[in-house]
Amino acid sequence: MQSYFKNKIVWITGASSGIGEALAYELNKNGAFVILSARNTDELQRVKNALPNKNIDSTILPLDMQNTASFETLTASIIDQFQRIDILINNAGISQRALAMDTTLSDDKKILDTNLFGPIALSKSVLPYFIKQGNGHIVNISSVMGKINTKYRTTYAASKHGMIGYFDSLRLELEGKVKITNIMPGFINTNIVKNAVSTEYKEQNLNKAGMSATYFAIKAVRAIAKQKREIYIGGFLEGFALVMKRLSPTLFDLIIKNKKVT
Ligand SMILES: NC(=O)c1ccc[n+]([C@@H]2O[C@H](COP(=O)([O-])OP(=O)(O)OC[C@H]3O[C@@H](n4cnc5c(N)ncnc54)[C@H](OP(=O)(O)O)[C@@H]3O)[C@@H](O)[C@H]2O)c1
Repeated sequence: MQSYFKNKIVWITGASSGIGEALAYELNKNGAFVILSARNTDELQRVKNALPNKNIDSTILPLDMQNTASFETLTASIIDQFQRIDILINNAGISQRALAMDTTLSDDKKILDTNLFGPIALSKSVLPYFIKQGNGHIVNISSVMGKINTKYRTTYAASKHGMIGYFDSLRLELEGKVKITNIMPGFINTNIVKNAVSTEYKEQNLNKAGMSATYFAIKAVRAIAKQKREIYIGGFLEGFALVMKRLSPTLFDLIIKNKKVT
């Protein structure tokens, strides 16, 4: 597996926390040069300092997923410095813990911009280089919510379904030139609930009992190296929900509508 990442330039968004942070450590262990992006520069610096493989250099590149106008310049700055980008990991995201009618349009927009429009725009800024290089790999951290539905997640579900739909379609357009891997995490123990757009305090936080981000990252990095098109990584419960939704959407809705899935 190391050989897939050895000396590769890997740009990770949302690298200041949770899944992105864990991916950065695992990729660095496997020989990649990681470019760490998010808004919080202090946290990015903390992650950079904690990278386990000190023999490989890395860098931080502050970025706001809502500021798509900055993407071309940021991408060009990477090319200027390192001459190439091999893998882009669209990981940055925010969740939702509020009913649709309690979510302001401005929060709807924030979720869609961060989770869907941002990744589309960032991918479009690297694609010309991938095509010129003759290779490249886009990895999208969608969610189990990219395939199923629950209350309190309307816009989040839209963003994650949209991510899968967009990048599955893009894969067909770029087949043979650019690889695309869509990853659907289940409940992973990160700050996602704390950082969610929310109108209510939710006592039940299923993510706390979820898979560790470190274990998730080991599995995700393995799937990226195998160039999988799509993979679910999470616990039994969410995995079962995926299967049930596919087999019987009606039964799925009947069961999920009365469940506390906040
Ligand atoms: N944890 C789960 O159970 C779970 C399940 C399914 C999918 N996911 C997905 O996994 C991804 C990572 O989430 P996580 O669980 O690691 O949550 P997290 O700990 O809250 O991390 C979210 C990351 O996204 C970054 N981010 C948020 N808004 C941003 C913006 N406008 N611009 C740039 N970066 C931004 C944050 O950095 P800054 O605040 O520094 O910008 C942070 O690094 C998300 O896409 C999430 O939807 C998570």
